[in-house]
Amino acid sequence: MSLTLIITFIALLGSLYVFCPSSAELPWFEHPAKPDGSLSFLVVGDWGRRGAYNQTKVAHQMGIVGEKLKIDFIISTGDNFYDDGLTGVDDVAFFESFVNIYTAPSLAKQWYNVLGNHDYRGDVEAQLSPVLRDIDSRWLCLRSFIVNAEIAEFIFVDTTPFVDKYFTDPEDHVYDWSGIQPRKSYLANLLKDVDSALKESTAKWKIVVGHHTIKSSGHHGNTHELNLQLLPILQENEVDLYINGHDHCLERISSTESGIQFLTSGGGSKAWKGDIDWWNPKEDKFYYDGQAILTISTSVKRFDMISFRPSILPETDQTVFKLQLLILEILIAIKRDFGGIDVVERDSGEIVADDGLRFEFLWCFRLVRSVGELQVLPINMGMQIPFKKLMLLHIIFIACLRLSAAELQRFEHRLKHDGSLSFLVVGDWGRRGSYNQSLVAYQMGLIGEKLEIDFVISTGDNFYEDGLTGEDDPAFLDSFTSIYTAPSLQKQWYNVLGNHDYRGDVEAQLSPVLTRKDSRWLCSRSFILDAEIAEFVFVDTTPFVDEYFEDPGDSTYDWRGVYRRKEYLSDLLKDVDGALKNSKAKWKIVVGHHTIKSAGHHGVTKELLLRLLPILEENNVDMYVNGHDHCLQHISSNGIEFLTSGGGSKAWRGDRNWWSPEELKLYYDGQGFMSVKMTRSEAVVLFYDVHGNILHKWSIPKEPLKAA
Ligand SMILES: *[C@@H]1O[C@H](CO)[C@@H](O)[C@H](O)[C@H]1NC(C)=O
Ligand SMILES: *[C@@H]1O[C@H](CO)[C@@H](O)[C@H](O)[C@H]1NC(C)=O
Repeated sequence: MSLTLIITFIALLGSLYVFCPSSAELPWFEHPAKPDGSLSFLVVGDWGRRGAYNQTKVAHQMGIVGEKLKIDFIISTGDNFYDDGLTGVDDVAFFESFVNIYTAPSLAKQWYNVLGNHDYRGDVEAQLSPVLRDIDSRWLCLRSFIVNAEIAEFIFVDTTPFVDKYFTDPEDHVYDWSGIQPRKSYLANLLKDVDSALKESTAKWKIVVGHHTIKSSGHHGNTHELNLQLLPILQENEVDLYINGHDHCLERISSTESGIQFLTSGGGSKAWKGDIDWWNPKEDKFYYDGQAILTISTSVKRFDMISFRPSILPETDQTVFKLQLLILEILIAIKRDFGGIDVVERDSGEIVADDGLRFEFLWCFRLVRSVGELQVLPINMGMQIPFKKLMLLHIIFIACLRLSAAELQRFEHRLKHDGSLSFLVVGDWGRRGSYNQSLVAYQMGLIGEKLEIDFVISTGDNFYEDGLTGEDDPAFLDSFTSIYTAPSLQKQWYNVLGNHDYRGDVEAQLSPVLTRKDSRWLCSRSFILDAEIAEFVFVDTTPFVDEYFEDPGDSTYDWRGVYRRKEYLSDLLKDVDGALKNSKAKWKIVVGHHTIKSAGHHGVTKELLLRLLPILEENNVDMYVNGHDHCLQHISSNGIEFLTSGGGSKAWRGDRNWWSPEELKLYYDGQGFMSVKMTRSEAVVLFYDVHGNILHKWSIPKEPLKAA
C-alpha cells in the first residue's frame, strides 16, 4: 500500500470521525455491565435530611442489599438535599446528608443523580459542580444525561422545569432557573434529545429516570405536564421502565395501555404521608407508603427482577414481605417471558389474582407450559426460596391460592388506542412455502400492514404432514419463521394444534424452546385470550374425534397429555363453558382446528356438533373459527358465524358438499386467509384469495343491548 493511500485512508477515517454527527446532544457516560452480562443497581429518592426520618436506616439497609446484589451503581431520583437544595459547593449538607450517611463499602460506587424540585430551590449549579465530585468521587449530577450500560440505556431527564406551577405559582419558594432560560426552547430541545437518544439506542432495556411522577397514586399524583409531553415519547420508543421519586413512597404501576412499568422510589427519608389516591387495581401492582428502596437487576438472559425492599420493617413483617417480594419479582419474569400474563398482584397485604380471586394458602406453582398444566406444590411459609434457581426454571411463580379459577391458561392482548382490534386468521399452512403457502404469506403481510393487525391466529395443522419431529425440527424455520417474514406479521401468533400436528411430537410445538427461536410463537392446547372487547377461547379439538383413536390407519398420534381422554374432554368442556360464562367481553369467539359446520371435504365434525356446539349456543358465542377443511367458508347459522380459514397452503380439493344456500355465505375452494376488524359495536370479516382479492365481506353489528 502506498504512503499516499494510507494517508488518504487515515484522513478519511479522521473526517468520518469529525463529521459523524454526535448521536445525541445529551452528555453520555458508559458503564460496563458485569462480565456475566448482568447489571444490578439501587434506586433511592427524596433522601437528604442529615440522617433524620430514617434516612440512616435506609442507608444501612442499602449497604447490606447493595453488597448482596453486588450492585454496579446507585441512582438517585432527586430531591437530594432538603428542604432547599444546597446553598453552595461548600454547604455542609453535602457531607451530612450524603458523604457521611451512605458509608457502607457496597455503596462506594458511582451515584447517578438527577435534580428534584427541592434541589432547584437552592444553588442548582453547586450540585452540578465538579467541586462536589472532587470532595466525593461517587457524586455525578447533571440536569439530563445518558448512561449506556450495554444491555440497558438510561436516560436521565430533568423534569422540574416541566412543571408550570413552580413558575406561575411558586408560593414562598425561590427557584434557581439560571441555565434553563428560555424555558420553552429548553424543554423542546430536551424532549427532542430524549426522543433521538431513545430512537438511536440499540440496548435491550430502555430506562428513563426523572424526579417527577408520570403515574402515581401518591400525594402528588400524576404530573400532567409529563403525561402530555414526555409520556408519548416513552410510549413511542417502547421504554421498559420509567423510574422516579417525588412521591415519598414505593410504587409500581404497570400501564395497561403500553408496556411501561412506572416505578416510584422516593422513600429515602421522610414518608408515611398517608394520602394514597385510588388507582385502577389492574395497573396498581404495589404501593408502600413508607421508607424503602428499589433494586433492579437485569440480565441479558430472559430474567429480570424488580424488587421493592422495605428496609426497616419489623422482624415479623419481614418474612411475609419477603414472600410478597418474590411474587413481584417472579411475576415480572413471567410477564417478560409470556408477554401478557399477569397472575398475581398485591393488595394491602393480601395477594389477589387478576380476576379478583383471593389467595388463601401458600403454594408454589410450577407452570409447565409445555403441557399446559399448573403443578401445585405447597411450600412452607417461612421458607427462604432460592429464587435465582426458580428463575432459571423460568416458569415458576409463587402464590397463595384458593383453587377455583378456570383452569385454562389466560393471556391478555391490549386493544389499539382507538378501541379496535384487528387480526388475521390462517390455517393448514406449514409446507415449507409450497402449494402457494408463500404467496398467501406475502398477501397476509400486505393486508396485515393495511389493517395494522394486532396478532395472528392459526387454526392448526401448523406443520405438514406429521407435525414437528422435535424442538429442533428445521420445519419450524422452513415453514414458519422463514415464510411469514413481512414486518406486519411480526406480531404475536396464537396457535392451536390440528390433527396433523398430533401426528408428530406434540410437546415440541408447545415448548417454550420454539418461542425462544421465534418470539411470535405461542401454541397451547387450550387457552383463553382476553382482548378486552373480545374474549377468545382456543379449544383443542383433535382429541374429540373418535376416528383418530379407533381407526388411525397408518398414522400414529402423540396422545401424551391426553391420557385419560374422557376426563380430558369433559374437563375441557367444563372449562370452556366456565370461561364463556364468566366472560364479560362484548364478543365471544371460539377457535378450534376442526369444523363444526362445513360443506367441505371433511364436512361437519359430529363429536363437536354434539358436545361443543350446545355450549357455544348457550353462551351466545358470536363466531366459531376453524381450519381443517382447506378452503375459505362462511356459514351463518342460528346467530353463530362459522368461519373456516384453512387455506394456508394446499387446496383445490374439489369435493364440495351441498349446504343450505340460506346459511352458506361463502365457499371458496382455494388458498387464502381471513381478516377480522372489530370494535365494540361492529365486527367486519373479510376473506382474501392468494392475490389479495377480497372474496367476501361480512359485517356483524353488535347491538348495545344484546349483552345485557
Ligand atoms: C422509621 O421507621 C419505622 C419502621 O418502619 C417507623 O415505624 C417510623 O415511623 C419511622 N420513622 C419516621 C420518622 O418515619
Ligand atoms: C396457486 O395459486 C394459483 C392462483 O390461485 C392457482 O392457479 C394455482 O393452482 C395454485 N397452485 C397450487 C399448487 O395450488
